[in-house]
Amino acid sequence: MENHINNKYKVLFVCLGNICRSPAAQGIFEHIVRENSMQDRIEADSAGIYGGHSGAHPDRRMRTAALYRGYGLTHSARQVRGYDFPDFDLIVAMDDQNYEDLMHLAPSVEDSHKIVRMASYLTDHKISYIPDPYYMGSEGFSLVLDLLEDGCRNLYESIVKTL
Ligand code: 4NP
Repeated sequence: MENHINNKYKVLFVCLGNICRSPAAQGIFEHIVRENSMQDRIEADSAGIYGGHSGAHPDRRMRTAALYRGYGLTHSARQVRGYDFPDFDLIVAMDDQNYEDLMHLAPSVEDSHKIVRMASYLTDHKISYIPDPYYMGSEGFSLVLDLLEDGCRNLYESIVKTL
């Protein structure tokens, strides 16, 4: 269902800290939206279950890995809040724990139906979640970007079909 206030379809990407996976997903997804000149129809944001990094830029390792692929990440971290649920059309969890936490935070059954798993949009990879790269080396960040590029492309296609 499209958001009624500004008539844009709004997607919220959620991970634990909002400094690695979800800001990267937001940056990749926004890049696809811009490539298709759909900025007037679709917008994205990201947030974290944990609020401890609020105000921080994405992790330097993720910013570097993303920039190498042409994505400049400029998001400032923030925590998920209750009114995100009525405000967004789709809430995309990076892993099962994020999904469970969001399910508990959802203020209504209708809102809980907006929560999906990023991995459910993967077609080129066989993995059921987007792994947390925080304690990994650079190959972890590169893997996460591979997964998010795959998932965001399919997520975008699925949204466009509903508009
Ligand atoms: P993210 O990665 O959830 O992909 O942003 C993490 C970043 C920081 C922490 C955990 C995960 N942390 O606990 O500080």
